[in-house]
Amino acid sequence: MATTLLSTLSRRLEGKVALITGGASGIGQRSAEIFAQHGAKLVIADVQDELGHSLCQSISSATHNDITYIHCDVTNESQVKAAVEKALNSFGKLDIMFNNAGILGDNKFQLKDSHKDDFERVLRAVTTLFLITGVFLGIKHAAEAMISATNKGVIGGSIISTASVSGSLGGTGSYAYTCSKHAVLGLTRNAAVELGQFGIRVNCVSPFVVATPMAKQFTGVSEEVIEGVTGEIANLKHVTLKADDIANAALFLGSDESRYVSGHNLVVDGGMTIVNPSFSVLQQQN
Ligand SMILES: NC(=O)c1ccc[n+]([C@@H]2O[C@H](COP(=O)([O-])OP(=O)(O)OC[C@H]3O[C@@H](n4cnc5c(N)ncnc54)[C@H](O)[C@@H]3O)[C@@H](O)[C@H]2O)c1
Repeated sequence: MATTLLSTLSRRLEGKVALITGGASGIGQRSAEIFAQHGAKLVIADVQDELGHSLCQSISSATHNDITYIHCDVTNESQVKAAVEKALNSFGKLDIMFNNAGILGDNKFQLKDSHKDDFERVLRAVTTLFLITGVFLGIKHAAEAMISATNKGVIGGSIISTASVSGSLGGTGSYAYTCSKHAVLGLTRNAAVELGQFGIRVNCVSPFVVATPMAKQFTGVSEEVIEGVTGEIANLKHVTLKADDIANAALFLGSDESRYVSGHNLVVDGGMTIVNPSFSVLQQQN
Protein backbone atom coordinates (compact mmCIF):
# COMPACT_ATOMS: atom_id res chain seq x y z
CA MET A 1 0.00 0.00 0.00
CA ALA A 2 2.78 2.44 1.00
CA THR A 3 4.71 1.56 -2.17
CA THR A 4 1.64 2.14 -4.33
CA LEU A 5 1.05 5.53 -2.73
CA LEU A 6 4.70 6.49 -3.17
CA SER A 7 4.77 5.49 -6.82
CA THR A 8 1.49 7.38 -7.43
CA LEU A 9 3.01 10.48 -5.88
CA SER A 10 6.29 10.22 -7.73
CA ARG A 11 4.77 9.26 -11.13
CA ARG A 12 1.84 11.60 -11.30
CA LEU A 13 1.38 11.37 -15.10
CA GLU A 14 1.91 7.64 -15.49
CA GLY A 15 0.02 6.37 -18.56
CA LYS A 16 -0.74 9.85 -19.83
CA VAL A 17 0.16 11.40 -23.17
CA ALA A 18 1.01 15.11 -23.28
CA LEU A 19 1.68 17.61 -26.06
CA ILE A 20 3.64 20.73 -25.09
CA THR A 21 3.92 23.68 -27.48
CA GLY A 22 6.92 25.95 -27.09
CA GLY A 23 8.42 22.86 -25.49
CA ALA A 24 12.03 23.41 -26.58
CA SER A 25 12.93 26.26 -24.22
CA GLY A 26 12.23 27.88 -20.87
CA ILE A 27 8.96 26.95 -19.16
CA GLY A 28 8.07 24.46 -21.91
CA GLN A 29 11.42 22.71 -21.66
CA ARG A 30 11.20 22.29 -17.88
CA SER A 31 7.60 21.13 -18.24
CA ALA A 32 8.70 18.50 -20.75
CA GLU A 33 11.44 17.28 -18.41
CA ILE A 34 9.20 17.21 -15.35
CA PHE A 35 6.21 15.66 -17.16
CA ALA A 36 8.52 12.89 -18.44
CA GLN A 37 9.96 12.28 -14.96
CA HIS A 38 6.36 11.76 -13.88
CA GLY A 39 5.82 9.09 -16.52
CA ALA A 40 4.14 10.99 -19.36
CA LYS A 41 4.71 10.09 -22.99
CA LEU A 42 5.42 13.34 -24.79
CA VAL A 43 5.17 15.22 -28.03
CA ILE A 44 7.34 18.33 -27.89
CA ALA A 45 6.25 20.94 -30.46
CA ASP A 46 8.26 24.03 -31.31
CA VAL A 47 9.82 26.01 -34.13
CA GLN A 48 13.37 25.61 -32.76
CA ASP A 49 13.98 22.20 -34.32
CA GLU A 50 17.58 21.64 -33.28
CA LEU A 51 16.85 22.48 -29.63
CA GLY A 52 13.67 20.37 -29.73
CA HIS A 53 15.42 17.29 -31.13
CA SER A 54 18.31 17.48 -28.68
CA LEU A 55 15.91 17.96 -25.76
CA CYS A 56 13.99 14.87 -26.89
CA GLN A 57 17.19 12.85 -26.88
CA SER A 58 18.31 14.04 -23.47
CA ILE A 59 14.90 13.41 -21.87
CA SER A 60 14.60 9.98 -23.53
CA SER A 61 18.00 8.87 -22.29
CA ALA A 62 17.35 10.21 -18.77
CA THR A 63 13.85 8.77 -18.34
CA HIS A 64 13.60 5.98 -21.00
CA ASN A 65 10.18 7.44 -21.83
CA ASP A 66 8.64 7.70 -25.28
CA ILE A 67 9.32 11.29 -26.36
CA THR A 68 9.00 12.70 -29.83
CA TYR A 69 9.51 16.10 -31.44
CA ILE A 70 7.52 17.83 -34.17
CA HIS A 71 8.07 21.15 -35.89
CA CYS A 72 4.93 23.14 -35.17
CA ASP A 73 4.29 26.83 -35.63
CA VAL A 74 1.24 27.32 -33.43
CA THR A 75 -0.14 30.06 -35.68
CA ASN A 76 -0.44 27.52 -38.50
CA GLU A 77 -3.60 25.44 -38.17
CA SER A 78 -2.42 22.49 -40.23
CA GLN A 79 0.75 22.25 -38.14
CA VAL A 80 -1.20 22.32 -34.87
CA LYS A 81 -3.51 19.63 -36.26
CA ALA A 82 -0.47 17.59 -37.30
CA ALA A 83 1.03 17.88 -33.79
CA VAL A 84 -2.18 16.55 -32.23
CA GLU A 85 -2.24 13.75 -34.84
CA LYS A 86 1.38 12.95 -33.98
CA ALA A 87 0.29 12.27 -30.38
CA LEU A 88 -2.62 10.11 -31.56
CA ASN A 89 -0.54 8.17 -34.11
CA SER A 90 2.48 7.70 -31.84
CA PHE A 91 0.75 7.01 -28.53
CA GLY A 92 -2.93 6.36 -29.33
CA LYS A 93 -4.45 9.30 -27.45
CA LEU A 94 -3.95 12.80 -26.06
CA ASP A 95 -4.60 13.41 -22.35
CA ILE A 96 -2.84 16.74 -21.77
CA MET A 97 -2.48 19.70 -24.12
CA PHE A 98 -0.17 22.43 -22.82
CA ASN A 99 -0.49 25.57 -24.98
CA ASN A 100 2.66 27.24 -23.80
CA ALA A 101 4.35 28.72 -26.89
CA GLY A 102 4.70 32.47 -26.75
CA ILE A 103 6.68 35.56 -27.54
CA LEU A 104 6.84 38.89 -25.78
CA GLY A 105 6.77 41.25 -28.76
CA ASP A 106 8.13 44.75 -28.20
CA ASN A 107 8.88 46.40 -24.89
CA LYS A 108 7.07 49.69 -25.40
CA PHE A 109 5.03 49.94 -22.22
CA GLN A 110 3.81 53.53 -22.42
CA LEU A 111 1.11 55.22 -24.49
CA LYS A 112 3.51 57.93 -25.63
CA ASP A 113 5.70 55.24 -27.24
CA SER A 114 2.78 53.20 -28.55
CA HIS A 115 1.74 54.57 -31.91
CA LYS A 116 -1.34 53.30 -33.69
CA ASP A 117 0.64 51.64 -36.46
CA ASP A 118 2.95 49.88 -33.98
CA PHE A 119 0.03 48.78 -31.85
CA GLU A 120 -1.82 47.34 -34.84
CA ARG A 121 1.33 45.75 -36.23
CA VAL A 122 2.16 44.06 -32.95
CA LEU A 123 -1.46 43.16 -32.37
CA ARG A 124 -1.93 41.70 -35.83
CA ALA A 125 1.41 40.23 -36.66
CA VAL A 126 3.36 39.51 -33.55
CA THR A 127 1.90 39.32 -30.13
CA THR A 128 -1.83 39.30 -29.73
CA LEU A 129 -2.89 37.49 -32.85
CA PHE A 130 0.01 35.08 -32.46
CA LEU A 131 -0.69 34.23 -28.85
CA ILE A 132 -4.43 34.12 -29.12
CA THR A 133 -4.45 32.15 -32.35
CA GLY A 134 -1.91 29.63 -31.01
CA VAL A 135 -3.93 29.05 -27.85
CA PHE A 136 -7.23 28.95 -29.75
CA LEU A 137 -5.95 26.39 -32.27
CA GLY A 138 -4.37 24.30 -29.52
CA ILE A 139 -7.61 24.19 -27.55
CA LYS A 140 -9.69 23.47 -30.67
CA HIS A 141 -7.66 20.57 -32.04
CA ALA A 142 -6.87 19.03 -28.66
CA ALA A 143 -10.57 19.18 -27.76
CA GLU A 144 -11.55 17.45 -31.03
CA ALA A 145 -9.10 14.62 -30.31
CA MET A 146 -10.24 14.30 -26.70
CA ILE A 147 -13.93 14.30 -27.65
CA SER A 148 -13.36 11.64 -30.35
CA ALA A 149 -11.56 9.46 -27.80
CA THR A 150 -14.77 9.13 -25.79
CA ASN A 151 -15.88 6.60 -28.47
CA LYS A 152 -12.95 4.42 -27.38
CA GLY A 153 -13.83 4.85 -23.71
CA VAL A 154 -11.12 7.44 -22.98
CA ILE A 155 -13.04 10.12 -21.10
CA GLY A 156 -11.83 13.61 -20.32
CA GLY A 157 -8.52 15.35 -20.74
CA SER A 158 -6.73 18.44 -19.50
CA ILE A 159 -6.02 21.53 -21.57
CA ILE A 160 -3.64 24.04 -20.03
CA SER A 161 -2.47 27.36 -21.46
CA THR A 162 0.25 29.70 -20.31
CA ALA A 163 -1.21 33.13 -19.57
CA SER A 164 0.69 35.63 -17.37
CA VAL A 165 0.21 38.08 -14.53
CA SER A 166 -0.29 40.46 -17.49
CA GLY A 167 -3.56 38.55 -18.02
CA SER A 168 -5.11 40.07 -14.90
CA LEU A 169 -2.98 43.12 -14.13
CA GLY A 170 -2.22 46.29 -16.07
CA GLY A 171 1.17 47.90 -16.46
CA THR A 172 3.26 44.73 -16.64
CA GLY A 173 3.66 44.50 -20.41
CA SER A 174 3.03 46.28 -23.69
CA TYR A 175 -0.57 47.06 -24.62
CA ALA A 176 -0.62 44.24 -27.14
CA TYR A 177 0.91 41.66 -24.77
CA THR A 178 -1.49 42.64 -21.97
CA CYS A 179 -4.48 42.34 -24.35
CA SER A 180 -3.31 38.93 -25.52
CA LYS A 181 -2.81 37.49 -22.04
CA HIS A 182 -6.20 38.80 -20.87
CA ALA A 183 -7.58 36.98 -23.92
CA VAL A 184 -5.98 33.68 -22.82
CA LEU A 185 -8.11 33.85 -19.66
CA GLY A 186 -11.22 34.45 -21.80
CA LEU A 187 -10.43 31.54 -24.10
CA THR A 188 -9.81 29.31 -21.09
CA ARG A 189 -13.14 30.19 -19.49
CA ASN A 190 -15.14 29.86 -22.70
CA ALA A 191 -13.62 26.49 -23.54
CA ALA A 192 -14.03 25.25 -19.95
CA VAL A 193 -17.76 26.00 -20.19
CA GLU A 194 -18.19 24.23 -23.53
CA LEU A 195 -15.97 21.22 -22.84
CA GLY A 196 -17.16 20.44 -19.31
CA GLN A 197 -19.92 18.22 -20.75
CA PHE A 198 -17.18 15.88 -22.06
CA GLY A 199 -15.26 15.80 -18.79
CA ILE A 200 -12.48 17.89 -20.37
CA ARG A 201 -10.89 20.38 -18.00
CA VAL A 202 -9.51 23.69 -19.28
CA ASN A 203 -7.26 25.86 -17.13
CA CYS A 204 -4.43 28.33 -17.42
CA VAL A 205 -1.34 29.15 -15.45
CA SER A 206 -0.17 32.74 -14.93
CA PRO A 207 3.51 33.23 -14.14
CA PHE A 208 5.22 36.31 -12.77
CA VAL A 209 8.60 37.06 -14.40
CA VAL A 210 10.75 33.95 -14.81
CA ALA A 211 14.35 34.19 -16.04
CA THR A 212 13.85 32.12 -19.20
CA PRO A 213 15.70 32.77 -22.49
CA MET A 214 12.70 34.91 -23.54
CA ALA A 215 12.82 37.07 -20.42
CA LYS A 216 16.61 37.46 -20.65
CA GLN A 217 16.42 38.51 -24.29
CA PHE A 218 13.54 40.91 -23.63
CA THR A 219 15.14 42.63 -20.64
CA GLY A 220 18.72 42.36 -21.87
CA VAL A 221 19.94 41.46 -18.39
CA SER A 222 21.18 38.29 -16.68
CA GLU A 223 19.21 35.68 -14.76
CA GLU A 224 20.65 37.03 -11.48
CA VAL A 225 19.52 40.59 -12.24
CA ILE A 226 16.01 39.45 -13.26
CA GLU A 227 15.67 37.36 -10.12
CA GLY A 228 17.00 40.20 -7.97
CA VAL A 229 14.45 42.67 -9.35
CA THR A 230 11.62 40.12 -9.18
CA GLY A 231 12.57 39.34 -5.60
CA GLU A 232 12.32 43.05 -4.70
CA ILE A 233 8.85 43.38 -6.23
CA ALA A 234 7.51 40.05 -5.05
CA ASN A 235 5.31 39.80 -1.99
CA LEU A 236 6.70 36.40 -1.00
CA LYS A 237 10.28 36.78 0.17
CA HIS A 238 13.11 34.20 0.52
CA VAL A 239 11.87 32.30 -2.55
CA THR A 240 12.96 32.79 -6.17
CA LEU A 241 10.54 32.00 -8.98
CA LYS A 242 11.96 29.38 -11.36
CA ALA A 243 10.62 27.77 -14.55
CA ASP A 244 10.19 24.61 -12.41
CA ASP A 245 7.50 26.37 -10.36
CA ILE A 246 5.43 26.97 -13.50
CA ALA A 247 6.10 23.45 -14.76
CA ASN A 248 4.95 22.05 -11.41
CA ALA A 249 1.75 24.12 -11.58
CA ALA A 250 1.13 22.66 -15.07
CA LEU A 251 1.95 19.20 -13.69
CA PHE A 252 -0.79 19.65 -11.06
CA LEU A 253 -3.29 20.83 -13.69
CA GLY A 254 -2.37 17.93 -15.98
CA SER A 255 -2.58 15.28 -13.27
CA ASP A 256 -5.63 13.67 -11.70
CA GLU A 257 -4.93 15.60 -8.50
CA SER A 258 -6.76 18.51 -10.14
CA ARG A 259 -9.59 16.31 -11.45
CA TYR A 260 -12.30 18.74 -10.28
CA VAL A 261 -10.48 21.96 -11.26
CA SER A 262 -11.69 23.63 -14.46
CA GLY A 263 -11.91 27.21 -15.73
CA HIS A 264 -9.23 28.18 -13.23
CA ASN A 265 -6.36 30.66 -13.58
CA LEU A 266 -3.54 29.31 -11.40
CA VAL A 267 -1.46 32.39 -10.63
CA VAL A 268 2.16 31.59 -9.77
CA ASP A 269 3.40 34.95 -8.57
CA GLY A 270 4.12 34.60 -4.86
CA GLY A 271 1.07 36.77 -4.16
CA MET A 272 2.36 39.70 -6.22
CA THR A 273 -0.98 40.46 -7.88
CA ILE A 274 -2.95 40.59 -4.64
CA VAL A 275 -0.84 43.29 -3.04
CA ASN A 276 -1.39 47.00 -3.42
CA PRO A 277 2.00 48.41 -2.39
CA SER A 278 0.43 51.82 -1.65
CA PHE A 279 -0.89 50.44 1.63
CA SER A 280 2.61 50.00 3.02
CA VAL A 281 2.90 53.81 2.87
CA LEU A 282 -0.18 54.12 5.09
CA GLN A 283 1.18 51.51 7.50
CA GLN A 284 4.49 53.35 7.74
CA GLN A 285 2.63 56.54 8.74
CA ASN A 286 0.97 54.86 11.73
N1 LIG B 1 9.34 34.20 -18.80
C1 LIG B 1 8.43 34.96 -18.24
O1 LIG B 1 8.76 35.85 -17.44
C2 LIG B 1 6.98 34.74 -18.52
C3 LIG B 1 6.03 35.33 -17.67
C4 LIG B 1 4.69 35.14 -17.93
C5 LIG B 1 4.28 34.36 -19.00
N2 LIG B 1 5.22 33.79 -19.82
C6 LIG B 1 4.75 32.98 -20.92
O2 LIG B 1 5.35 31.71 -20.82
C7 LIG B 1 5.36 31.07 -22.10
C8 LIG B 1 6.72 30.45 -22.35
O3 LIG B 1 7.69 31.47 -22.38
P1 LIG B 1 9.19 31.30 -21.86
O4 LIG B 1 9.44 32.41 -20.91
O5 LIG B 1 9.44 29.91 -21.44
O6 LIG B 1 9.98 31.68 -23.20
P2 LIG B 1 11.02 30.88 -24.12
O7 LIG B 1 11.35 31.82 -25.22
O8 LIG B 1 12.13 30.34 -23.31
O9 LIG B 1 10.13 29.68 -24.68
C9 LIG B 1 9.10 29.92 -25.60
C10 LIG B 1 9.14 28.84 -26.66
O10 LIG B 1 8.08 29.09 -27.59
C11 LIG B 1 8.57 28.81 -28.87
N3 LIG B 1 7.82 29.50 -29.92
C12 LIG B 1 7.89 30.79 -30.29
N4 LIG B 1 7.10 31.01 -31.32
C13 LIG B 1 6.50 29.83 -31.63
C14 LIG B 1 5.56 29.43 -32.60
N5 LIG B 1 5.06 30.30 -33.48
N6 LIG B 1 5.15 28.13 -32.60
C15 LIG B 1 5.64 27.25 -31.71
N7 LIG B 1 6.54 27.57 -30.77
C16 LIG B 1 6.96 28.86 -30.72
C17 LIG B 1 10.01 29.30 -28.86
O11 LIG B 1 10.77 28.72 -29.91
C18 LIG B 1 10.45 28.85 -27.49
O12 LIG B 1 11.02 27.56 -27.52
C19 LIG B 1 4.95 32.17 -23.09
O13 LIG B 1 3.58 31.98 -23.44
C20 LIG B 1 5.13 33.45 -22.30
O14 LIG B 1 4.29 34.49 -22.77
C21 LIG B 1 6.56 33.95 -19.60
